Amino acid sequence: MNKQAAIGVFDSGLGGISVLHEIRRLLPVESLIYVADSAHVPYGEQTAEFIVQRSLAISAFLLAQPVKALVVACNTATAAAVTELRQRWPQVLIIGMEPAVKPAVQASPSGKIGVLATTGTLRSARFAALLERFASDVQVVTQPCPGLVELIETGQLNTPATRALLSGYVEPLLTAGCDTLILGCTHYPLVRPLLQSLVPSHVQLIDTGEAVARRLQNELGKQGLLADSQLPVDCFYSSGDVHKIAKTLASLWPTPQPVLALGF
Ligand code: DGL
Repeated sequence: MNKQAAIGVFDSGLGGISVLHEIRRLLPVESLIYVADSAHVPYGEQTAEFIVQRSLAISAFLLAQPVKALVVACNTATAAAVTELRQRWPQVLIIGMEPAVKPAVQASPSGKIGVLATTGTLRSARFAALLERFASDVQVVTQPCPGLVELIETGQLNTPATRALLSGYVEPLLTAGCDTLILGCTHYPLVRPLLQSLVPSHVQLIDTGEAVARRLQNELGKQGLLADSQLPVDCFYSSGDVHKIAKTLASLWPTPQPVLALGF
């Protein structure tokens, strides 16, 4: 595998851009190819079978570019499909992501943790196993957030509608006394400033973007696949309306980018 090849990253939509930022920060010379499956967002309300089918198709597309590693920048797709992806491509470096339960347990003074995530992630066997492994001695309050991803997809990162919806989701966690909130969906770090304004200052917000970028860096390093100095080339694809996606992307990514049609 060519170490100058790009890294492939996908999500149901633009949430994975929160992870892409961390990858760029840590690995500034790596080229990135990003796929937003915008025609099928939100994954959180889809069946696991459907998400597996989409994740396999998108991964096959990315590997054909070719990319040297795959990042599933989506907690919901990781929960539903990462096992199948690793079975299909055992030689490929595939990095998934899951809600930051372990770091949250370590960080929480009260042992009361709130998890904001999609319905799909929260009902998955992978999430149940994660709680069993790391959170058996703490109190965990879970909160699905239907509708939030759709608002973020249209660039509504700090509108009254987003504030009202998010505030309704955070309230029960604060009432339960949670002092640590896990952002268990890659879309949610995109509304972190709004979320921060809705919680008291002692409440910590934890997400996994940086840890994923670090893991990617370590694994690429181990395999001798870190790129040598180069001007990175980024490429964005979407299965949805590319003009609409490009408009939202402009507010999320520092350099203006065209968005290409994924075609399936
Ligand atoms: N961004 C995704 C995640 O991390 C999925 C959001 C959705 O499409 O429901 O879970």
